[in-house]
Amino acid sequence: MHTRLWYDRHIHGSVKLIIFSLVAIFYVTFLCRESQNAYELNKVKAETSGVMHLQSQAGSKSQPIIQKLEPVELSRINNIVTTINPVYEYSEEIHAAIEGELKQRNLHLREVCKRYQLQFVYPPNPREFFISHGHSLIWCNVFKAASSTWLYYFNILGGYNVKYLQHIVYQPLELARKRFPRPELPELLESLPYLLSFLFVRDPFERIVSGYRNKLEDCKNSYYKSLAKRIIKRFRKQTTTSRTKKCPTFQEFVQFLIEQHKQGKRFDEHWAPIYSFCTPCSIEFNIIGKLETFARDSEFIIREAGLEYLLLDKLPKNKLSRIGNLSKGSKTNFLMEIYFSEINRTTLDQLLNIYRWDFELFDYDFKKYYDYIIPDVEDTKNTTLKPTMGMKNLTTTRM
Ligand SMILES: *[C@@H]1O[C@H](CO)[C@@H](O)[C@H](O)[C@H]1NC(C)=O
Ligand SMILES: *[C@@H]1O[C@H](CO)[C@@H](O)[C@H](O)[C@H]1NC(C)=O
Ligand SMILES: *[C@@H]1O[C@H](CO)[C@@H](O)[C@H](O)[C@H]1NC(C)=O
Ligand SMILES: *[C@@H]1O[C@H](CO)[C@@H](O)[C@H](O)[C@H]1NC(C)=O
Repeated sequence: MHTRLWYDRHIHGSVKLIIFSLVAIFYVTFLCRESQNAYELNKVKAETSGVMHLQSQAGSKSQPIIQKLEPVELSRINNIVTTINPVYEYSEEIHAAIEGELKQRNLHLREVCKRYQLQFVYPPNPREFFISHGHSLIWCNVFKAASSTWLYYFNILGGYNVKYLQHIVYQPLELARKRFPRPELPELLESLPYLLSFLFVRDPFERIVSGYRNKLEDCKNSYYKSLAKRIIKRFRKQTTTSRTKKCPTFQEFVQFLIEQHKQGKRFDEHWAPIYSFCTPCSIEFNIIGKLETFARDSEFIIREAGLEYLLLDKLPKNKLSRIGNLSKGSKTNFLMEIYFSEINRTTLDQLLNIYRWDFELFDYDFKKYYDYIIPDVEDTKNTTLKPTMGMKNLTTTRM
C-alpha cells in the first residue's frame, strides 16, 4: 500500500511534468511564429518606404538609378510572369532591372524626337490625359493599348467601389472623366514635374488592326455604323466581287486612313498615331509602358507610385486573362499576316508614312510587314506564291 501511494504520486508528478512541457513547447512555437510575422511585415514596410524614398530623393520625377545588368540577367527577369498581385516573387533586384529597361526606352525616344525635331511639330496636347493629384499620377490614355485596365485603375483611384465597377452599365471612360476631367494645358504642364507620368504603347499596326476589328469589321458598333457606310461608299470598287461583304474590309479601312491623313483630318482616337495626341516629344513621360510587358510595367508603376494597397490584386479575373493573352505574340503575328495580306506595297508605304514615327519612337519593327503584303507583280512571276490565307475563316478572339 505504501509503495502504491508512492507510485501514484510519482505518476501524478510525471503527468504534471508532461503537461508543463507541452504548454511550454506550444508557447515557444507561438512566440516564434509571432516574431516571424512581425519580421515579414517590417520587411514589406521597408520595401514600400524604399520606393517612397527613391521617389522623394528624385523629387518625385524619378531619375532612376540605372543598374547595369547583363542581357542574360535582364531576359531572365523579363521572363518572370508577374501576375499584378503577388507581394511574393517581387524584389528590389527585379525592380531595378525593369527600371534600367524603362530608362533605355526613354533614352531611345529622346533620341528619335531629337532626330526629327518632333517637339516642334507636335506641341503638348492635354486632351487625352488623366491627372490624379491625390495619387501623384499622370496618364495619357492610348486607346487600343490595354487602356481599359488603366481606366479601371483610375476609377478605383477616383473612389468608385470595386464591386460597383465590376457590374457597371456605364462606360468606364465616362465614369473616369467625371472624376478626372480633361485637363487644360497649364494644369498639365504645371503638374508634370511633380507627378509620375506614364503611357502605354503598342505596335502601331496591331493597334489599328485592333481598332478596325473592334469598331468596323462586323459593323456591330452602332456609333461607327455611319463611318462604315461612308468608307464603303468611298472606297469599294463595284467591279470587284466583294459586293457580298456588308462591312468595310481592312484594305478599305486603310485607304480611308491614308485619305484622311492626306486631307489633314483629325483621326479618331482609336487609330490616331500616339505622337499626335500623347505628344511624347514635348511631354517628358517618366515611364513608357508597353503592351508586350503590360503586367510587369503596370506593377512597376503601381509600386513607384506607392499604390500597392489600392491597386495590386484589384483586377477582375477576366481582365487578367485577357491581358495575359494579349501579351502573347504568336496569335497576334498570325492575325497581322492575314490582314496585311490584303494590302499591296504602295498602300503599305503610304500607311507607314502615317505611323512611321510611332514605330521609331517606341522601337517597333515595321520591316516585317513587308513580308505579309501582296507580293509585287514582278516578284510573283518568278517565285512560287505564298499560300494565301483565308479571311473568312477566322475563329480567333477579338484583340
Ligand atoms: C486566354 O487564354 C486562355 C488559355 O491560354 C483561355 O482559356 C482564355 O479563354 C483566353 N481568354 C481570352 C479572353 O481569350
Ligand atoms: C495598290 O492598292 C490600291 C488600293 O486597292 C490601288 O489603288 C493601287 O493601284 C494598288 N497599287 C498597285 C501597284 O497595285
Ligand atoms: C527568274 O529568276 C531567275 C533568277 O532567279 C532569272 O534568271 C530569270 O530570268 C527570271 N525569270 C523571269 C521570267 O523573270
Ligand atoms: C476553317 O478552314 C479549315 C480548313 O482550312 C476547316 O477545316 C475549318 O472547318 C474552317 N472553319 C470554319 C469556321 O470555317
